[in-house]
Amino acid sequence: MADTMDISEIIKMRRSVRTFNKKNLTEEDLAQIKEFIKDVKNPYDIPVEFRLLDPKEHGLKSKVLKGEELYLGAKIKKVPHFEEAFGYSFEAVVLFAQSLGVGTVWMASTMNRDAFEKAMELGEEEIMPCVSPLGYPADKMSVVETVMRKTIGADKRLGIEEIAFEQEFGIPFKGCEDKLLENVIEMVRLAPSAKNMQPWRMIISGNSVHFYEKKDPGFDREEAGDIQKIDIGIAMYHFAKVMESGGRDVTLKTDDPGLKVPEGVVYISTYSW
Ligand SMILES: Cc1cc2nc3c(=O)[nH]c(=O)nc-3n(C[C@H](O)[C@H](O)[C@H](O)COP(=O)(O)O)c2cc1C
Repeated sequence: MADTMDISEIIKMRRSVRTFNKKNLTEEDLAQIKEFIKDVKNPYDIPVEFRLLDPKEHGLKSKVLKGEELYLGAKIKKVPHFEEAFGYSFEAVVLFAQSLGVGTVWMASTMNRDAFEKAMELGEEEIMPCVSPLGYPADKMSVVETVMRKTIGADKRLGIEEIAFEQEFGIPFKGCEDKLLENVIEMVRLAPSAKNMQPWRMIISGNSVHFYEKKDPGFDREEAGDIQKIDIGIAMYHFAKVMESGGRDVTLKTDDPGLKVPEGVVYISTYSW
């Protein structure tokens, strides 16, 4: 990642890019991305295999994109926690690309999935939850992209008080003396999510943050897994990396603290420091 760039800055700069300028990646950017995707870790230690795919060679398409010349595909074994692991690792690549000025958009559905899965040579126990184009943003968004952003409300996010709580659900987080933690929660808030539903909920308790998924209907899919769990993996990547950038080591556990949760909310994981 560009050394001078702070992870919080990269998170703030990222947006989904659906209109590209048709230029190939520079040799330097391509080489850096190739190197980065060789070994992307996640706290579940579940390997994610990334491949760079030529749309022409494999017949890859997306109705919502324009001018894309390269795709990033990724697959993972269907083992417990694969969604969170996938979200974490794929977001690492998305933010690395952003640090180079390379645009991306997470896509779970708006592509000819069969052709992508073929290009990824999916094995029996493997799944390809999402893909993304990789390219330089065009100067002007296509009409499709502009309309899509408006319809989804892509520039909006829930307020902190709707996603973060103190000790238990129902007591909104009102900020704290720990400025790093405050910034981390804000950086989770800005994360991308499927249909911008922002399913992450956090309970702050001492030196721990418990992550929960607020489930919405229609996101648990045979071909992609529980897409909102992928969103939580993305949020966890933002959390861990911003904490680390502030010099704080975090460790992940998946022991449910057994707190009372609203209907449709499930426990995912806990980061402690
Ligand atoms: C797991 C996941 C799946 C997504 N799937 C699609 C998709 O299939 N097609 C699409 O155009 N955007 C997709 N998105 C992009 C979201 O719509 C986008 O991140 C959200 O609207 C917020 O906008 P932003 O990324 O510009 O901040 C997906 C995002 C995530 C995280």
